[in-house]
Amino acid sequence: MGEEKIDRLKGFRQFLPGEMNARRKVFGKLDRIAERYGFGHIETPSLEPMDLFLIKSGEELVEQTYSFEDKAGRKVTLIPEETPTRARMVKENKALSKPVKWYSSSKFWRYESTQKGRLREFRQFNYDIFGEDSVDADAEVLAVASEMLEELDIDHAAELRINDRRMLEGILSAYGIEDSEDILKVIDDKEKMSRQEFRDRLKDEGLSEENSRIVDEVTELSGSFSEVIPKLENLVPDAEESKNAFKRLVELKERLESYGVLENCIIDLSIIRGLAYYTGMVFEIFDTEGELRALCGGGRYDELIELFGGQPTPAVGFAAGDAVLEILMKREDVWPEEEVETDVYVLTVSESVKKEGIKLAQRLRDMDMSVETDIVGRNFGNQMDYANSINAENLIIVGERDLENGEVTVKDMVSGDEEQVGFESVEEYFSG
Ligand code: HAM
Repeated sequence: MGEEKIDRLKGFRQFLPGEMNARRKVFGKLDRIAERYGFGHIETPSLEPMDLFLIKSGEELVEQTYSFEDKAGRKVTLIPEETPTRARMVKENKALSKPVKWYSSSKFWRYESTQKGRLREFRQFNYDIFGEDSVDADAEVLAVASEMLEELDIDHAAELRINDRRMLEGILSAYGIEDSEDILKVIDDKEKMSRQEFRDRLKDEGLSEENSRIVDEVTELSGSFSEVIPKLENLVPDAEESKNAFKRLVELKERLESYGVLENCIIDLSIIRGLAYYTGMVFEIFDTEGELRALCGGGRYDELIELFGGQPTPAVGFAAGDAVLEILMKREDVWPEEEVETDVYVLTVSESVKKEGIKLAQRLRDMDMSVETDIVGRNFGNQMDYANSINAENLIIVGERDLENGEVTVKDMVSGDEEQVGFESVEEYFSG
């Protein structure tokens, strides 16, 4: 039989230990942020009934899912996002004390046309707060997102772009432009096209020349909170909903200041978000050069849980994707080294010292150090090469004569310094 070549599917990745080492460092930082802010870790199913996403994720996302019939003929979907599952979990767990704050890091699947930062399998880090509709909850979520940028050392290269859907809808409606899903979709895509294309697309959706100019100009409005708020003051109509949305933005500014993250945040009236469930504040994080797709997206979705048959429960949150984060961190030269790390390699010079070598390796593993020793029967030189290949920071040479004197040689592979250390004192050497 000939050899069959079975390639990896497009848009799916695989990672070697060195690459995973870098990824896990980044993921670990995001896990820690969640813990620092009191977000509890949750885990959710990877496969859900297709109907879960039909309710409110929006047509585009549903079209992009991996959906199929299982063996019992049920229509099921590999989860393209976690928000609907979380809404169901909140509904099912009524007794949870509010606010409920949840975090997870898991894989998602979307059948997208693959491109830079857009894959068919990717990881998202989801942070949500349920049961609290205050501006404080919005601010805390934005603070977490901002802290992520700081922690990953990309705060100088990315910014949070914030808007309020209701406020934008109010402004447009004051001009007699009623928002339709189609118009919102064009606004959502604005960053991907020229201004002329944008106006043409709006006209294709039925807007007059004048109205497409207005939508273009309004959605051009962006800048720091201090710059944009006075401009909005004149623009926001008297209608109660728009006024309230604007008031929240003013309050948000103050809160973001208290959290110390205001300088990472700007207002941008073109941010609208593709997903259909958002009801108020929305935001995305983009690189400041405007080269990449969004690193993060989120906002307030106060009606989703009720829509799923639960008690009315306000909610706000966001998700960050691993792919764009990696691209930006590499561009900014802050992505961790993609290599394996080992604390100690225990080099045994001959079979006769192997027993002691293994015991020593076990003692160091008990100290939670990463340790390797020979399991192949390599000679001295080949063990040295192997120790270098696994980036061992320290080498312990267990030699026959040394051992008779109750000693081993410890070599610091970074400085090259060598020291004789008592066989029984190795733990002390490393903890000192
Ligand atoms: P989303 O904007 O669809 O929002 O995705 C959030 C982030 O996930 C994006 O900014 C992007 O970094 C990443 N992402 C999305 N699709 C892909 C893909 N095909 N390849 C690589 N990365 C991707 C949501 O999913 C909402 N459920 C977020 C949310 C949580 N809203 C409230 N809570």
